[in-house]
Amino acid sequence: MIEIRNVSQRFAGPQGWIEALHNVNLTIPPGEVFGIIGRSGAGKSTLVRTINLLTRPTEGDIVVNARTLTSLSSADLREARREIGMIFQHFNLLSSRTVFDNVALPLELAGVKRAEIEATVLPLLELVGLTAQKDRYPSQISGGQKQRVGIARALASKPKVLLSDEATSALDPETTRAILDLLRKINRELNLTIVMITHQMEVIKQVCDRVAVLDAGRVVESGPVIDVFLQPRHEVTRALLGDVIAQELPPALKARVAEHLAKGSGHLLRLAFKGTGVDQPVLSETIRRFELDFNILHGQIDEIQGQAFGSLAVLAGGDPVKVAQAMAWLREQGVVVEELSHVE
Ligand SMILES: Nc1ncnc2c1ncn2[C@@H]1O[C@H](COP(=O)(O)OP(=O)(O)OP(=O)(O)O)[C@@H](O)[C@H]1O
Ligand SMILES: [Mg+2]
Repeated sequence: MIEIRNVSQRFAGPQGWIEALHNVNLTIPPGEVFGIIGRSGAGKSTLVRTINLLTRPTEGDIVVNARTLTSLSSADLREARREIGMIFQHFNLLSSRTVFDNVALPLELAGVKRAEIEATVLPLLELVGLTAQKDRYPSQISGGQKQRVGIARALASKPKVLLSDEATSALDPETTRAILDLLRKINRELNLTIVMITHQMEVIKQVCDRVAVLDAGRVVESGPVIDVFLQPRHEVTRALLGDVIAQELPPALKARVAEHLAKGSGHLLRLAFKGTGVDQPVLSETIRRFELDFNILHGQIDEIQGQAFGSLAVLAGGDPVKVAQAMAWLREQGVVVEELSHVE
């Protein structure tokens, strides 16, 4: 369990103080993959660096596995940090060392004997799929393989927590998927808590259980990923979600709908479902019950952590009273219903 309690971080800038984090509170349950997303400059890297006190917060406390890191002596902090591994966007490998020796480095530094190093490193290379590449140098392997080395190195000291700062941002989509699958596997097999910093909602969708949205140093929204996807509340979340689920209609369609709505007929609705709601014939039932005319303009059915998720844009025509009743009924069925106001 990681607790970030009332954490604020100020830096001295050329024009006075920069408040990179403002009273951040987050609880990260053990064994979860927890995503932190935000735009550039939101404070993500600063936040992840405060978790292992690479940056000491100006105010607040960090508690990792019941130890308050912010009040430890430097010797105890060094010890506590061994439970926290970290991986980076640019891998940070040593070019003069082989794959094996890069992974072995933290163990060498900790004074571990050669035989024990081998007994630790070889299974890790197996775990990340790099057994055949163990004697190569970083210049002789691909970006995805470099990140696998970074992951194995982070796991060498048997951490309980893995911090990842944009670990897939330098990789192509296919390699990103493979690395995220690997992180998920490690999370499950080693019961490792993973804190994943990213600016891509796709990464959150693929691998995270829970997400917190950071904007200008503040947590503006957090919760289970599927709930945030169903009902994003903050405009930054909506904007970031735009990459993976359509929040708006394609422009040509939008123009036609606007024309239609200008005549005063119809309501443009966004319906979002999860779980069984996607499979049940909720829509046809609504149409029958309320004698409405439903025109599906745009739709998407997806899966988030094994749970079905659907989002539809619907033009509902018919008696306005019945449309209102239908909206209420849909909500009773667990569908998130929103009247889209941004069609002008
Ligand atoms: N050591 C520092 N000294 C002064 N200002 C800093 C320092 N580190 C970060 N900042 C400032 O704090 C704010 C948050 O930076 P941070 O690197 O945490 O953002 P980020 O969300 O990781 O952005 P990106 O997505 O671009 O990596 C920025 O305004 C940045 O300029
Ligand atoms: Mg950053």
